Amino acid sequence: MSSFIVFLLVFLFYSSNEIFVRSWDTIPKSDADLIEVALNLEYLEAEFFLYGAEGYGLDVVNPNLTEGGPSPIGGKIADLSPLIKDIIFQYLIKFGCRAIKSTVRGFSRPLLNISSAIFGQIINNAFGKRLEPPFDPYANDINYLIASYVIPYVGLNGYVGANPLLQSATAKALVAGLLGVESGQDAIIRGLLYERRDEIVIPYKVSVTEFTNRISNLRNKLGREGIKDEGLVVPKELGAEGEVTGNILSANDYSLSYPRTPKEILRIVYGTGDEHVPGGFYPLGANGTIAKSYLERN
Ligand SMILES: *[C@@H]1O[C@H](CO)[C@@H](O)[C@H](O)[C@H]1NC(C)=O
Ligand SMILES: *[C@@H]1O[C@H](CO)[C@@H](O)[C@H](O)[C@H]1NC(C)=O
Ligand SMILES: *[C@@H]1O[C@H](CO)[C@@H](O)[C@H](O)[C@H]1NC(C)=O
Repeated sequence: MSSFIVFLLVFLFYSSNEIFVRSWDTIPKSDADLIEVALNLEYLEAEFFLYGAEGYGLDVVNPNLTEGGPSPIGGKIADLSPLIKDIIFQYLIKFGCRAIKSTVRGFSRPLLNISSAIFGQIINNAFGKRLEPPFDPYANDINYLIASYVIPYVGLNGYVGANPLLQSATAKALVAGLLGVESGQDAIIRGLLYERRDEIVIPYKVSVTEFTNRISNLRNKLGREGIKDEGLVVPKELGAEGEVTGNILSANDYSLSYPRTPKEILRIVYGTGDEHVPGGFYPLGANGTIAKSYLERN
């Protein structure tokens, strides 16, 4: 009996350490498939934040992680104040693609479009008209923070959606860890924007709040599954406990983060509202079993 307990303890010790070793073969395929959807978003974040803070991407910092995937299109250094640059730089040290690739086989970096033009187009879509001059994410702090508002939140929704579907402890531990960091990133971006919520974004005569509300509405429209995304100031019905209009965190009636399915995530990041039609940040589509299954049927 006691040797069985010793065996059990040793077994538990090793299995809890699984997360730190390559465990490609130890997690079920369905878990790996779900986590691979997120890998696409983690590549996007790593490249956008790296370029914004440093002017170069994974090709310079960690070419192994790219596995020879094509270099992103249009990334460049953003004109940032020391504080914002420091915060973005700290994000990079935590890039999630490294953690994911230590647990699932994954794939090479997909082609990413992080050009000023693609952000300009997303913002035009959010406003339903062409802004002049086109919105440039790399121009200054406020533009870069608004552009950053576009990205980690969707990753967070994906992790919340994936978590209840995971089978293995290893996958759950990984996703919990990634969700924690992703939520932190989103909260910091929202907090910095909230401080500046009444600022007018030059030269558009539009407040920071309106930018966030428009982007959130666009994501709700593209996701096609109702309201799962809220800007910085909301009507009272949507605010915390139906009481407040300030909305520093986006959460549902029970103050829980909103979940999204892989389909919804792809509709949003492709900017097409259709998981079968690539575009947006992913001109050739996202990679991994789930994303590819939609593209193949096209
Ligand atoms: C990249 O891969 C090579 C060969 O597998 C290895 O020697 C090197 O340490 C890796 N570099 C990093 C930064 O992981
Ligand atoms: C998907 O990943 C595989 C494996 O890394 C790679 O060979 C393939 O070119 C990738 N496809 C796309 C569309 O990025
Ligand atoms: C990147 O996005 C911009 C804006 O939509 C587009 O004009 C450009 O062709 C895209 N690049 C690629 C390679 O898809």
